[in-house]
Amino acid sequence: MHISFFCKDDNASAWLDDLRAALPQAIVTPWQPGAALADLAVVWAPPQHMFDEQTKLRTIFNVGAGVDALMQLRLPPQALVVRLDDAGMAVQMAEYVCHAVSQYTRGFDRYQSAAHDANWVRRPPLNRAEFPVGIMGLGVLGQRVAQALQHFEYPVQGWSRTLKAISGVRCYAGPSQLAEFLASSRLLVCLLPLTPETKGILNLATLSQLQPNGYLINVARGAHLVEADLLALLDSGHLAGATLDVFRTEPLPPSHPFWRHPRIRVTPHISASTLPRQSMAQIVGKIQALARGEPVSAIVNPNHGY
Ligand code: NAP
Ligand code: GLV
Repeated sequence: MHISFFCKDDNASAWLDDLRAALPQAIVTPWQPGAALADLAVVWAPPQHMFDEQTKLRTIFNVGAGVDALMQLRLPPQALVVRLDDAGMAVQMAEYVCHAVSQYTRGFDRYQSAAHDANWVRRPPLNRAEFPVGIMGLGVLGQRVAQALQHFEYPVQGWSRTLKAISGVRCYAGPSQLAEFLASSRLLVCLLPLTPETKGILNLATLSQLQPNGYLINVARGAHLVEADLLALLDSGHLAGATLDVFRTEPLPPSHPFWRHPRIRVTPHISASTLPRQSMAQIVGKIQALARGEPVSAIVNPNHGY
């Protein structure tokens, strides 16, 4: 077994060491132009050139949950693409989203500014029924977020491509149920993959359908959001705030208006980081399972793009 490795990350050499240690019988080499043909690849943000040369790949393991960048490339047609399935990201995402939700619903941001002025002001207790949370994308991460929000007893609903049945979560599916889903949500969490169908889905038409004084939490991809439409809805007052972890251009340029907007919180794409040890262990487990002829989870469907 020959594995070609290309991961654009400062710690990639440690990931390579992990792979080699876990698969001593395999040849694992960092990819460089002109490298020998491999049958498997482990990649994050690889160049097109890699796949122009590596034409014999049977499986490509993406060291991340989102495969949008990879699916833009011309891949060997026979290659199976496998993405990360949780691998320690779901708990991080659940924590991030619950934190963002409670900042708004409990008014922690207002307490912080009151504290700045040594101002002892108590806000009325939270009525959770006033804060229904809608989750776009009920996959591995969306379902974990739904479960975490349910623990805090928020009304939770979700929207996906195919209809789900999740205890305690009102489920909607497909374009025909999008309007109903949005109209019954006040906080909207985006956990969709970026595909031709979902690009720009957070726009004036969709975000206007949220309940008044709504909030957006985008933790999926920057290109889901039409940035000017978010600014317009914050200016008009229909939206009360947004927490954004992902952006069309990353790093977010210093001059970007999101940085200084009083009702936008920016984090640098950290809502759920790839955990190298857990990710490599998952990939190694799948390499071994495929070698035994067993099925593996999180295979990307090229027709759906995720
Ligand atoms: P997943 O398991 O593939 O779940 C995707 C969900 O989106 C599924 O429920 C799917 O519906 C739904 N969906 C896809 N296309 C749709 C459409 N056109 N209309 C309605 N629903 C649609 O993915 P995941 O592991 O949860 O990850 C989700 C995304 O999170 C990733 O693609 C990535 O972009 C992002 N992410 C961000 C970070 C970060 O740090 N910010 C970290 C990890 C991941 P079905 O269930 O019907 O298939
Ligand atoms: C991170 O954004 C990922 O897709 O894993």
